[in-house]
Amino acid sequence: MRILRRLSGFSNRLLKVESCSITASESLIQLAWISLTQKLRKPPGVFSTMPETETNERASELFLPPTHVRGMTKLDRTSFKKTVTIPVLKVRKEIVSRLMRSLKRAALQRPGIKRVIEDPEDEESRLIMLDPYKIFSHDSFEKAELSTLKQLNVNPQISKYNLELTYENFKLEEILKAVLPEGQDVTSGFSRVGHIAHLNLRDHQLPFKHLIGQVMIDKNPGITSAVNKINNIDNTYRNFQMEVLCGEENMMTKVRENNYIYEFDFSKVYWNPRLSTEHSRITELLKPGDVLFDIFAGVGPFAIPVAKKNCTVFANDLNPESYKWLMHNCKLNKVDQKVKVFNLDGKDFLQGPVREELMQQLRPSKERKHSVHIVMNLPAKAIEFLSAFKSLLDGQPCSSELLPIVHCYSFSKDANPAEDVRQQVGAVLGISLEACSSVHLVRNVAPNKEMLCITFQIPAAVLYRHQTINLENHEDLPLKRRRTDKAFSEEKTQIASNT
Ligand SMILES: C[S@@+](CC[C@H](N)C(=O)[O-])C[C@H]1O[C@@H](n2cnc3c(N)ncnc32)[C@H](O)[C@@H]1O
Repeated sequence: MRILRRLSGFSNRLLKVESCSITASESLIQLAWISLTQKLRKPPGVFSTMPETETNERASELFLPPTHVRGMTKLDRTSFKKTVTIPVLKVRKEIVSRLMRSLKRAALQRPGIKRVIEDPEDEESRLIMLDPYKIFSHDSFEKAELSTLKQLNVNPQISKYNLELTYENFKLEEILKAVLPEGQDVTSGFSRVGHIAHLNLRDHQLPFKHLIGQVMIDKNPGITSAVNKINNIDNTYRNFQMEVLCGEENMMTKVRENNYIYEFDFSKVYWNPRLSTEHSRITELLKPGDVLFDIFAGVGPFAIPVAKKNCTVFANDLNPESYKWLMHNCKLNKVDQKVKVFNLDGKDFLQGPVREELMQQLRPSKERKHSVHIVMNLPAKAIEFLSAFKSLLDGQPCSSELLPIVHCYSFSKDANPAEDVRQQVGAVLGISLEACSSVHLVRNVAPNKEMLCITFQIPAAVLYRHQTINLENHEDLPLKRRRTDKAFSEEKTQIASNT
């Protein structure tokens, strides 16, 4: 009986709310009432029925899918239907567009929901849907909004509308949060590679993997396939082992990065959309006429933009599929005349075509103003390949103008990653790079794991280890460079005395 009396008191209070415009002080009752109507699942429309029972559903859950979808592993879109109560403002239809400009803040913004609807009771009027978290009563309007309402002769009284929400009206995160076990992480992040959403699901998400894949496709226009990474990239060609969760099995895709187009089979080659800034950072460093050797070129994201800058490019990849798509992409981006493509192991490429080209470049020439860059993006292993530079040009004329600039990538889990990478490179080359290298943080790959790029000019002492260094045009070199060369000569003497 006591409960009934309480409920009846509650209804009486709400009756008052219904009969006139709602005031801010009554907004709590309003929210409780909103929740109640959700439970009752009223049909859409402006209404004034009273609530019959109290609920403890939190107002912040208004736009969450219904609780019964929790644990669903096979997507049933129809289960997401839910009715919520929305504040609406009734206005004359001819002033709607003028008014909407002033009510941007207050208007409801949900995917797939019209903010202005016909008034079922009056064809000369429209209902403007308002955000129930911002507008509780006419007092919730800001001064400027009230002033526009006044100017346009609109009564600021708020009515309520029963709005039916469906699967289409919920956002990706809202759906996954409602379905996956409560309190567990809902990762909706993914890498987009053309038409493919590339996920890296955790163990607790795996029972829901097909549903997650389907929701990814539904909620991301242009995505028609969702794949999950099966294991870490530890194979030679750095391509992902993946499982298609939902949608197209076809992994042939097309992406645009920094205005260049790349086509490839994502299941067979390496592609990481998170490297686009790094690709353009390196591209920026080269000037027209420079030469680039790309030792681990993939499908061309360094080689192609650099070639477009009128540089000469030698690009290599061991993976026959990368090689194939690299050639294809050079043609696609119209730089095939500027890029020579190779399918070799990185070491063989360095000691073969790279060495030969450097020797060509060492021939006496008055007009040698260009720089030579070597990009080595195979972070798990690239540092090991640096040993190929040792004595690479022994017996050749030595020119300090032709000391290539290396951009070598590495991962580090060290507390001081830059120092760690410098030391590793120094250990392979047998020389200290402390004063003559720079380290750039590319990205955080995992907690406590960074990807870095170390840039340095290969010391002459490394390229010409068994030979006296006779630096050409030494006096023409910039001061900084002369100092560096001097340091390299001294280091060479030191290495020689150590070995
Ligand atoms: C991390 S990916 C980088 C691809 C491209 N440079 C980029 O930035 O997207 C490394 C590439 O090195 C290639 N690779 C792996 N081992 C190699 C080796 N020993 N010699 C040459 N290429 C190799 C892989 O096939 C892969 O395409």
